[in-house]
Amino acid sequence: MSFNNKSIGVFDSGFGGLTVFSSIAKKLPQYNYIYLGDNARSPYGDYDFDTVYKYTLECVEWLFTKGCSLVILACNTASAKALRTIQQNDLPSKYPNNRVLGVIRPTAEVIFNYTQSKHVGILGTRGTINSNSYKIELNKFSPNLQVYQQSCPMWVPLIENNEHLTPAADVFVKEYVNDLLKKSNKIDCILLACTHYPLLIPKIEKYLPHGIQLLSQGEIVAYSLVDYLNRHPEIDEKLIKEHKKEFFTSGDTQIFNKQANQFFGEEIQSKQM
Ligand code: DGL
Repeated sequence: MSFNNKSIGVFDSGFGGLTVFSSIAKKLPQYNYIYLGDNARSPYGDYDFDTVYKYTLECVEWLFTKGCSLVILACNTASAKALRTIQQNDLPSKYPNNRVLGVIRPTAEVIFNYTQSKHVGILGTRGTINSNSYKIELNKFSPNLQVYQQSCPMWVPLIENNEHLTPAADVFVKEYVNDLLKKSNKIDCILLACTHYPLLIPKIEKYLPHGIQLLSQGEIVAYSLVDYLNRHPEIDEKLIKEHKKEFFTSGDTQIFNKQANQFFGEEIQSKQM
């Protein structure tokens, strides 16, 4: 693919990034996109820093070889554990013309607008929560915000295995939501800091008291990308605008095709990575 013929890559450990991609594709339908889910190695939530960095870099480099000059890590775990090293080490030395963006910073920039009490809850994978990335980013933008975090290690496995609508899922949804709410009775906004979690919204809402707002990242990240491309016309002008979308998985394409529409909202025909 020539230098002037570029797509936007969207990456997640598995299906979750499709919830973000769906919002991006609605807001910016004109671009060409390549989605990659690393389903064969998902979930990433419990891997150490080095492993998440290694797997994420491999996937980002694969997207570069497919002609993506701009890649969105539509995965909080990868954004928390791999993005900084990729941006600071790999891009300048090996791919100075390419860009990789994450989902944590754009989300942290706007959370303040959604809370009156200034007490917010964060639900994420163990990797995202233990990295403290949200606390660090939120403190930069809104130092007065009180941040309470809860990891939900069973949620991604339940969703990736299509068990999230079963009664068994209720047990883990109730447990983690209650554990978060025990940390403060002033929380009025909860961020779903994992791109898989929007699929659990109906169950999460069952266990939330009235008046607590649940925030997912799709729209936020899509708005932030619109803003980024407006501020960087030199990147925008290299992107092809033929309204095309391709989907790849490192896992089983038939399983991907069967489950992906729950996340993306339309039927998907995926190809093997
Ligand atoms: N969707 C990923 C995220 O936003 C899930 C990570 C995982 O694979 O555990 O964190």
